[in-house]
Amino acid sequence: MNDQINEKPRSDGTLVEVRDLKKHFPVQAGLLERLMAKRIEYVRAVDGVSFVIHKGEVLGLAGESGSGKTTTGKLVIRLEEPTEGSVKFDGIDLQTLGDEEMRRLRRRMQVIFQDPMASLNPRMTIGQAVGHPLQIHFPEQAGSHREMIYEILDKVGLSPPQFFIDKYAHQISGGQRQRVVIARALVTQPDLVLADEPIAMADVSVRALLLDLMIQLKNEFNLTYLFITHDLATAKYICDRIGIMYLGKLSEVAELREVYSHPLHPYTQALLAAVPVPNPHKRRTQPMPVGEIPDAIHPPSGCRFHPRCPIVRLDHCPKVEPELRELRPGHFVACHYAEQFL
Ligand SMILES: Nc1ncnc2c1ncn2[C@@H]1O[C@H](COP(=O)(O)OP(=O)(O)O)[C@@H](O)[C@H]1O
Ligand SMILES: [Mg+2]
Repeated sequence: MNDQINEKPRSDGTLVEVRDLKKHFPVQAGLLERLMAKRIEYVRAVDGVSFVIHKGEVLGLAGESGSGKTTTGKLVIRLEEPTEGSVKFDGIDLQTLGDEEMRRLRRRMQVIFQDPMASLNPRMTIGQAVGHPLQIHFPEQAGSHREMIYEILDKVGLSPPQFFIDKYAHQISGGQRQRVVIARALVTQPDLVLADEPIAMADVSVRALLLDLMIQLKNEFNLTYLFITHDLATAKYICDRIGIMYLGKLSEVAELREVYSHPLHPYTQALLAAVPVPNPHKRRTQPMPVGEIPDAIHPPSGCRFHPRCPIVRLDHCPKVEPELRELRPGHFVACHYAEQFL
């Protein structure tokens, strides 16, 4: 048995350490292709990413749809098995854990997905849904579950709890449903919360409220978030550091303020230029870089961004893959020619 599993996080500041992580999904071939015995192709959803998540921070992963954010998140909490690479959670290499050890560790890593309706069982009451993780992880404390459920419902703003506890998901609003999902994630007192586009489905009017709630709960419960969003305006609201993903790779990683004040990757610059500005007189919205995001089965050679890049040099960029380089303190960028933006 691994005795580290139920311990409090170590105090050296690192909660998660991801090394050279890859996830390649086989492409489902059609019958005809299988008959013709064509070779299997792979979607390189995540294709070699390394990063750390510091204790107590909100690390954002941003990037266009299909860039590998969700798969990276799932790998971090081992909802997917990596093709290559490793994830250490609080010093524990997840790959070394058996099913039972992994089950115990799950108490400390919880998840909030985008669609609360899809993640709540329609036949469970709110009380049952929020109590479910307690039954799994704290069966010996069954006598206090009800009290714990009341307490967490109150904390997420579903009060009075007795008004909600016997209701079903379809009987409450979308914003309230996402609060239930947050309560269910936090009731086991996790250390890490993976939040995958947690406000994307919510009404615009409640998005800021949900983000404020997540920030407040993070401080109250000493949480660490891996916060996935395709929307840089949302990232700006909540993240401490941010990694920009492009076709399964990280193209830039830095503190949030750094990325906004000194974006060093042409892709990040384009993403920032495309963020809508609320004041219509100051609108500076620009279209995204030309071209579609290429498919992740055959990513472009060399630098994956080169077919869309405004500063591409064709003698070099299609040939050599850029490494993440630290060009300012704590600010990493994977571009051969980022020095010009320093
Ligand atoms: N289970 C899966 N099987 C096959 N392909 C997948 C699977 N999950 C994701 N993908 C593919 O991997 C790529 C990255 O997906 P995803 O991680 O969901 O990106 P994002 O969250 O940034 O939109 C996409 O091309 C997607 O179609
Ligand atoms: Mg996603």
